[in-house]
Amino acid sequence: MKIDPVTVTLKNNVTVTIRAAVKADAAGMLDAGWRYLQESPHFITTVNEFNFTKPQEQAWIRSLNESDNSLLLVALYNNKIIGNIQLRGEPRSKIRHNALLGIAIRKQWQAIGLGTALMHTAINWARTKGALKTIWLHVHATNEHAIALYRKMGFREAGRQPYYIKEPDGRFTDNLLMGLLLE
Ligand SMILES: CC(C)(COP(=O)(O)OP(=O)(O)OC[C@H]1O[C@@H](n2cnc3c(N)ncnc32)[C@H](O)[C@@H]1OP(=O)(O)O)[C@@H](O)C(=O)NCCC(=O)NCCS
Repeated sequence: MKIDPVTVTLKNNVTVTIRAAVKADAAGMLDAGWRYLQESPHFITTVNEFNFTKPQEQAWIRSLNESDNSLLLVALYNNKIIGNIQLRGEPRSKIRHNALLGIAIRKQWQAIGLGTALMHTAINWARTKGALKTIWLHVHATNEHAIALYRKMGFREAGRQPYYIKEPDGRFTDNLLMGLLLE
């Protein structure tokens, strides 16, 4: 286990657990992943493109767990995955001090502090572990809620890709690159 399990009481007074993902989470992660995509327009992957198999998901969990600059955490309520966060560390030697962050939370668990708790836990791990210098993330420029969370956690805008995302209705959305320097 990369971190000891943490319990967090959210703004609705419900206590949830945050822990490192294990191989046995693969089915729950796939189920949650499919639901995140149904519930939010702010992902690049579309529902139709989310077709990973359980062995592929198990391999992905293992690869993050075996990599010393990567982390995969799940948030659980009643043993069900309600959110997750990952830091995917770069494997090549010249850039392995960088990781790409991804986060998602089930709709009914949004806006009550879980994103903040997951980010705190992941960033604390990165600071303590010391393998990373910078955490990066991509976010739709229209995703005000996520951007508010990232700014609150200290991330700053580092770049903007105009027209990067083409929405299903044909409109274009800019992509933001944000970064956090761990020092
Ligand atoms: C974006 C996301 C990760 C944020 O997590 P969360 O648990 O909902 O966020 P929190 O409750 O911790 O709130 C974080 C900050 O966001 C802001 N915020 C909260 N609710 C908000 C809302 N409804 N609209 C806009 N901003 C909001 C506040 O600044 C809040 O900080 P505060 O609690 O100190 O006031 C989560 O909502 C989510 O998974 N959304 C769908 C998928 C997604 O957008 N993922 C990110 C892709 S880059």
